[in-house]
Amino acid sequence: MKLYDVYPLFDINIVKGKGCKVWDDKGQEYLDLYGGHAVISIGHCHPHYVEMLTNQLNNLGFYSNSVINKLQVKLAERLGKASGYEDYQFFLINSGAEANENALKLASFTNGRTRVLSIEKAFHGRTSLAVEVTNNPKIIAPINDNGHVTYLPINDLEAWEKELAKGDVCACIIEAIQGVGGCNMVTPEFAQGLQAACKKYGTFLICDEIQCGYGRSGKFFAHQWLGIKPDLITVAKGIGNGFPMGGVLISPEFTPVYGQLGTTFGGNHLACTAALAVLDVFEKENLVQNAHEVGEYLIAQLKELQKRNSHITEVRGRGLMVGAVLDIPHKEVRSKLIHEQHCFTGCAGTNILRILPPLVLTKENVDDFIGRLETVLKEV
Ligand SMILES: Cc1ncc(COP(=O)(O)O)c(C=O)c1O
Repeated sequence: MKLYDVYPLFDINIVKGKGCKVWDDKGQEYLDLYGGHAVISIGHCHPHYVEMLTNQLNNLGFYSNSVINKLQVKLAERLGKASGYEDYQFFLINSGAEANENALKLASFTNGRTRVLSIEKAFHGRTSLAVEVTNNPKIIAPINDNGHVTYLPINDLEAWEKELAKGDVCACIIEAIQGVGGCNMVTPEFAQGLQAACKKYGTFLICDEIQCGYGRSGKFFAHQWLGIKPDLITVAKGIGNGFPMGGVLISPEFTPVYGQLGTTFGGNHLACTAALAVLDVFEKENLVQNAHEVGEYLIAQLKELQKRNSHITEVRGRGLMVGAVLDIPHKEVRSKLIHEQHCFTGCAGTNILRILPPLVLTKENVDDFIGRLETVLKEV
């Protein structure tokens, strides 16, 4: 049987990782400024993570959600404390798309409505509702195209208020910093105005923190830069440092109903152990603060590079979620970065380099990256 060929691949077989470095099967080392698509938070193969998962696997890999799982309770408590959402409730699933799917379902179960407002260029995943609120017609199958969603421009509060005033909107879903959309940032004025309008018209505000959250922005959640408190917050990616999992933080205004939501694998023992190990390392190594400090340094160094090289036209983002907008397609730049400079980066659109490193990145790593990027930008 062949693989179903949906991924355009770099011809590289990564077999080993440590911190912000990965190695291919020929022993070539790469600097990882991509983190496997913003997934690696505490660094590849962190020893504490490996030890905790190994111990858990030696005790119990999985049991179902029909029995008590104290690891889930512990994780909810720890995450509540770490993120400042101790009064919220936590529901665990297996991926980002599932997290958004369940957040949208909860909103609809609760206010009985079906309409959703989403931001132009948004990406929220590929399952039915998650893909419907994603602003990319190429990945919305006819079966998912059910007319629930209106896409509106980022930060255009008037346009959002006008739609909300119709009184039929179930939820607004936003990324405080857009990922796939290219590191476009929601402003505090827009976020606060949107939150007020949502409250006024009985609409739930969902913040998708799957990419921009979990410490990446330099605060635990990226929306915490904006002075808002959403009703529902979705997480995935960094929560498990590569162990597939997702979650929804649910405000106290929601009352759980037995059987209304559910999953076989969500919140399993290994997943919770991975997430607990991640939170241990966040605390021990001050990774949210590190993302803030090293992120500011990265942005400053990219802006310096912009002065020396006109291929960079804009630098945007926050913490370790940074977009360098180029005046040329990113394709050749990324290809040279990977094949000649041995450095992974992400991308967005046709001309944005998206930098999403593990949160353990150091200033030395930044200097190293800037050197490699400068070499490439001089050549193209
Ligand atoms: C902001 C955002 N939401 C949702 C998702 C979907 O997550 P997953 O691929 O785990 O379903 C992604 C994935 O890239 C994302 O960046």
